[in-house]
Amino acid sequence: MKKWSASFRFWHWANAVVIVGLIGTVLLRKGFLSYKANAQIILDKLTAIDVSITLDQAKTIAKAIRAPMWEWHIILGYVLAFLVVYRILLFFTQSGKQSFRFKELNMHHKLVSMGYIGIYAVLFFMTISGLVIHFYQELGLLKDSADEIKDVHEAVYQVVLYFVPLHIIGVVIADIKEEKGIVSNIINGG
Ligand code: HEM
Ligand code: HEM
Repeated sequence: MKKWSASFRFWHWANAVVIVGLIGTVLLRKGFLSYKANAQIILDKLTAIDVSITLDQAKTIAKAIRAPMWEWHIILGYVLAFLVVYRILLFFTQSGKQSFRFKELNMHHKLVSMGYIGIYAVLFFMTISGLVIHFYQELGLLKDSADEIKDVHEAVYQVVLYFVPLHIIGVVIADIKEEKGIVSNIINGG
């Protein structure tokens, strides 16, 4: 059974909250606060009271309504950057490296650990690409290049989105079956 230090558990749960928060900002951006959908609502409602504006003006208003919410994507993005560095430092501790002693692992746990390496690589990529899109001007990049990076950042987001439920289902099943207590271990240390 794995044992988790307090600092590792703090990292795990802070990371979980930040990832769920980042996904939340994306779902809001694409859902309730979608500028295209809201621009149409603004346009329709204003037309109904005899105020006429163009669709582009309505889009500007809808984006302004979305902006304070999206600031949280950047704030949580900075926190994620900090957590990625924190996780790299944890690799030098017992808790941080125990999942990756491949010689001691059976086939199933080798695959689980490779999945963790995969998600770490994805989080690293999301952090670097996110910071690059945010600071593209300071970095001397063209808007077109930033847009291309954004397309990849957005595509790789799918991996994060699917990892979260699969991970939770995976650890809950493991806890019910042959790895009793793994969920409470990552809460109380084991
Ligand atoms: C929501 C975002 C979450 C993310 C991004 C995440 C990420 C991770 C990662 C990367 C590891 C591997 C740790 C290592 O390096 O060994 C891990 C381990 C673990 N997580 Fe999560 N986690 C999340 C949420 C949760 C939740 C909600 C639970 C509980 C239901 C949970 C339970 C566990 C457990 C039990 C382990 C240890 C598994 C093992 O022994 O291999 N995680 N998590
Ligand atoms: C797990 C981590 C992350 C996920 C899942 C994620 C997801 C996404 C997604 C899906 C988009 C596209 C939104 C859209 O155009 O509809 C996006 C855009 C963006 N993200 Fe992230 N992101 C993450 C981390 C970061 C980080 C660390 C930063 C930097 C601080 C960042 C900064 C940005 C920026 C600047 C945009 C472009 C917004 C725009 O075009 O106005 N992201 N992100």
